[in-house]
Amino acid sequence: MGLDRPLQRLFLGFLFLSLTVSSCVARFVVEKNSLTVTSPESIKGNHDSAIGNFGIPQYGGSMAGTVVYPKENRKGCKGFDEFGLSFQSKPGALPTFLLVDRGDCFFALKVWNAQKAGASAVLVADDIEEALITMDSPEEDGSSAQYIENITIPSALIEKTFGEKLKKAISGGDMVNVNLDWREAVPHPDDRVEYELWTNSNDECGVKCDMLMEFIKDFKGAAQILEKGGYTQFTPHYITWYCPSAFIVSRQCKSQCINHGRYCAPDPEQDFSTGYEGKDVVLENLRQLCVFRVANETKKPWVWWDYVTDFQIRCPMKEKKYNKDCADTVIKSLALDSKKIEKCMGDANADAENPVLKEEQNAQIGKGSRGDVTILPTLVVNNRQYRGKLEKGAVLKAICSGFEETTEPAVCLSGDVETNECLDNNGGCWKDETANITACKDTFRGRVCECPLVDGVQFKGDGYSTCEVSGPGRCKINNGGCWHESRDGHTFSACLDIEGSKCQCPQGFKGDGVKTCADIDECKERKACQCPECSCKNTWGSYECTCSGDLLYIRDHDTCISKRANEEKSAWTAVWIILIGLAMAAGGAYLVYKYRLRSYMDSEIRAIMAQYMPLDSQAEVPNHVNEEHA
Ligand SMILES: *[C@@H]1O[C@H](CO)[C@@H](O)[C@H](O)[C@H]1NC(C)=O
Ligand SMILES: *[C@@H]1O[C@H](CO)[C@@H](O)[C@H](O)[C@H]1NC(C)=O
Ligand SMILES: *[C@@H]1O[C@H](CO)[C@@H](O)[C@H](O)[C@H]1NC(C)=O
Repeated sequence: MGLDRPLQRLFLGFLFLSLTVSSCVARFVVEKNSLTVTSPESIKGNHDSAIGNFGIPQYGGSMAGTVVYPKENRKGCKGFDEFGLSFQSKPGALPTFLLVDRGDCFFALKVWNAQKAGASAVLVADDIEEALITMDSPEEDGSSAQYIENITIPSALIEKTFGEKLKKAISGGDMVNVNLDWREAVPHPDDRVEYELWTNSNDECGVKCDMLMEFIKDFKGAAQILEKGGYTQFTPHYITWYCPSAFIVSRQCKSQCINHGRYCAPDPEQDFSTGYEGKDVVLENLRQLCVFRVANETKKPWVWWDYVTDFQIRCPMKEKKYNKDCADTVIKSLALDSKKIEKCMGDANADAENPVLKEEQNAQIGKGSRGDVTILPTLVVNNRQYRGKLEKGAVLKAICSGFEETTEPAVCLSGDVETNECLDNNGGCWKDETANITACKDTFRGRVCECPLVDGVQFKGDGYSTCEVSGPGRCKINNGGCWHESRDGHTFSACLDIEGSKCQCPQGFKGDGVKTCADIDECKERKACQCPECSCKNTWGSYECTCSGDLLYIRDHDTCISKRANEEKSAWTAVWIILIGLAMAAGGAYLVYKYRLRSYMDSEIRAIMAQYMPLDSQAEVPNHVNEEHA
């Protein structure tokens, strides 16, 4: 039935071929993600869950929800609409995690039915006590392939006992809240992400191969940007199997293996008598490995993506071009060293190990936290297997979450991983409507509220309720959030281009400087231009004063003077300057005198004198006394 028990699956296609890693079955490791029960208290805590190999997990993010266990259709094998059930969460409510039981149908079908009924995630409770496995999509099944493509919600398998705890809590009337967390799903040990794609050159294996080919084409651009920028180190891998020694001379092994049964691949058509043989696939896989090695040696590992996509397009099995000649034209067109590639590939007929393929077989076995690679295709990011749809945006998200926050390259913040949360209510972030500036930023981690940098001017604030421009250039942006207005060719602004300054109405205006600055009527409010000969007229931001007759208005003195008295006035100015100078000199002399007097009188003398006459600095006396006592 292909019920996603991995070993069953593995042996189905390759009945007589044993998997290299089968000897290690006992320690088959599945990547786990943390599922946390946040309420009720009685079952609170972390639990393991294995994310399904379809749907779109939120790498770098997390999802909270309420667990619902359906009253009917508990295995989820039928559409829930047949039972009149809907799990669409109401506005404002937490999303629904639908709990279903394992068994009777494909995992993917359960998830698809749940998604159609409005669930936001699916938990599949295992039906036997066993270590968690990865829920994979069924292979080579035309009808299921259509809905698998459309699964967007994440799903996770949970252990039987944990499932029972959840069911018990739900039947007891408890509201069960959980949090599915992908934040730590991808470790980020350094500022470079290492990732591997376990792939296959076979383009005729049905839905899975089509999906892989599509993904490689789609992802090539991003992969090359990441690689050229030194952000990632990518390595392609290919799975091969070996033929058990008893069968090495059989027709099947001969047609599917090279190097005397050491490296095999299943027949592309599952028919040994026609078309391409497994052997052809192994050879092309080996060639692609060698293309990578040679390209990597010349420090251009990304050429592998070009080769693989070009080969797909130019040398498909359908057109009977899946062969060495066609591969050579692609190698040539990419200016790769074909001699080196030949040498790397070695002799396929030799009864000896091929070092390149041997290394691949070794790499298949899990190391450290990474489980064995048994599903094709498999993506491994920072030594953790990626689970979820092989789709550009989702994979980019997973790779990007391998970077530490703020060290991610620009491609991680591009359209492909946008969540569009900013479009809805501006993501709850600060926004300046008039200047159309927002603190909302779409990232692969979801939206963040961060005060922006606009035209080289940094906004500062919490990003949610406030962002303010500060520093030089602040008036360039929306006038620094201050009032400004233009009338009759005059513009006034309340913005000062000084670090840390607040909005301040310019001279001639009063107000808060932010929303309003109102003109001051200098004629009335400031008593300007009040001399008998004056006539005052208020203007916007200022006033005009005219003097009657032949008089001239002097704004600084707010007075009218005779035009002819100009010399007189300057004489008077000189007198004033002299007078002010004398006054200042007298004041200075007095200060000097006082200072010197003080410095001559030491505190002892002043203490004695204080008994006879009051001094202007008597306060110092008690101080002095205190000092003596101290
Ligand atoms: C999947 O989605 C595509 C496009 O959105 C649609 O045409 C197709 O009918 C869907 N398939 C199923 C099984 O709903
Ligand atoms: C590719 O080259 C880098 C160094 O340039 C090396 O560390 C890495 O192991 C190489 N990968 C393979 C598969 O040869
Ligand atoms: C605001 O800016 C965004 C992009 O910067 C643009 O798409 C949008 O149309 C602008 N809205 C207004 C009201 O100008």
